[in-house]
Order: sequence, then C-alpha cells, then structure tokens
Amino acid sequence: MQSKLDAIYRGRTLVLGHRGASAYAPMNTLPAFMLAADQGADGIELDVQLTHDGHLIVLHDFTVDHTTDGHGFARDMTLAQIRQLDAGLWFGEAFRGTRIPTLDEVFQAVGQRFRLINVEIKSESWETTDGVEAAVAKSILRFNMIDHVIVSSFNAMALRRFRAVLPEAAIGYLYAPDNPSTYHLMDDFPHEARHPHYSLIDQHLMTWDHDHHYRVNTWTVNDPAVARSLRQLGVDAIMTDYPNKIIEALRD
Ligand code: G3P
Ligand code: MG
Repeated sequence: MQSKLDAIYRGRTLVLGHRGASAYAPMNTLPAFMLAADQGADGIELDVQLTHDGHLIVLHDFTVDHTTDGHGFARDMTLAQIRQLDAGLWFGEAFRGTRIPTLDEVFQAVGQRFRLINVEIKSESWETTDGVEAAVAKSILRFNMIDHVIVSSFNAMALRRFRAVLPEAAIGYLYAPDNPSTYHLMDDFPHEARHPHYSLIDQHLMTWDHDHHYRVNTWTVNDPAVARSLRQLGVDAIMTDYPNKIIEALRD
C-alpha cells in the first residue's frame, strides 16, 4: 500500500485544492475542481454524502442551505431534487446554474487530471452504516481510481467500514483540535495517512508519523508562509483553497 502512495507523492509536498480551488469558484463543484487543475494543483479534496435514494453527491454541509438556493438535509432529498438546486449563485452570478455533482461526475470530468483525489466521507453514522462506504467504493472501482485516491473521514467507524469493503484503497484519519479525539479507535487499525489540522503539526508529530509510515496530509492552509514552514517540517500534502498561491509559495 505504501508503495502505491510513494508513486503518487514522488518525494515532494503535494498541493491539493480544498473543495477544489474554492477561493475562486463555488466549493465542491466542477468549476472549482477544473480550476484547481488549471492552476496546476496535484489533486483535490472533496466531501461526499448520500442522498435519500442512495446516490453519492459532493457536498460539505449536511444541509444544502449554505451553498444552494434550496433548504433542508441532503439525506432527505432524492438526486432528482438535488439536481434542481443552483449551487453556484451563492458564490457569484458568473456561476449561476452550477449543480451539485455526483462523485461519478467528478471522476469522469477530472479524474485523469490529478495525481490524487482525497474523498472525505461525511457521515454521522456510528454503529451502523447508511451505505456511504459501499457507494464510495463502487464509484472508485467504476472509474478505476483506486491508485489515485485516499479516502478520509473524521468518523473512524466509517473508515473501518470502508476498509472492509475496499481494502486496496488508502485511507486517512482526519482530526482537529476542536473535535473530541477518537484516535484510539485507529490505534490498532491499519491506515496509510493521517490528516491533522495544520495547527497540530510540529516536528515531534512529523517524526512519529513518518517513523510509523503514515503520510501526513494537512488542511486548510491558505497562508504561503505557513505552507513553506509545513513543507520544511516534511508534510506530505497541503490542502488549500488557493492552489495557485500555495504552488507559487512552494516553487523552488
Ligand atoms: O479533509 C480536510 C478538511 O476538508 C476537513 O474539514 O470541514 O473542510 O471538510 P472540512
Ligand atoms: Mg472536507
């Protein structure tokens, strides 16, 4: 598994567009992902969850309120209803008519343009599954993306379930200062990457993680000086809303 990731990283700090180039285009939409590719990002991070009828859509919040002209929980809507929503207008008139994409549509549109796509599973299901893990696995297999994805989540149980359905895909455990640590749930569970918030990273963490063969992919770094110091510490990938700025900062 690590050799698969070695082929992706090739010994340098990657720059991933967080929700695409989300400073310049509406987050988690095709325009944001295509712009990240145009800016030269090595990859993207995106968030996925299930609709009521079991389709895998790319959306950050559990409700559509913040990023569309609709209201309510995505899990209560069908894909047909989701497709009616405008997911671009909130960001700017130029993006009017942009839709929430499915993961399949993203793989289809930009899968070949990136070295790495980080699929973050948004799931509140703890004891049982809502089916999201199997849906992610199917989409990865359908588009032959297995060597180009890391599946991450704050939900350790979702990661465990995902590993059971697609053990060949790399997984990354997400954690942040403001969410209760469930890291012990991953202690005895093989995973390839850790995804700490950047404020948690220091030399001690980097040494420990690399000694234990974890890749360290961090978020969300929009300050060029911070990006340079994280690279200095040996961080493997930086997720940013501004791929162009961070690529420029790391050029040399
Ligand atoms: O995957 C990194 C980052 O996206 C996690 O937080 O809330 O932006 O999905 P959030
Ligand atoms: Mg995310």
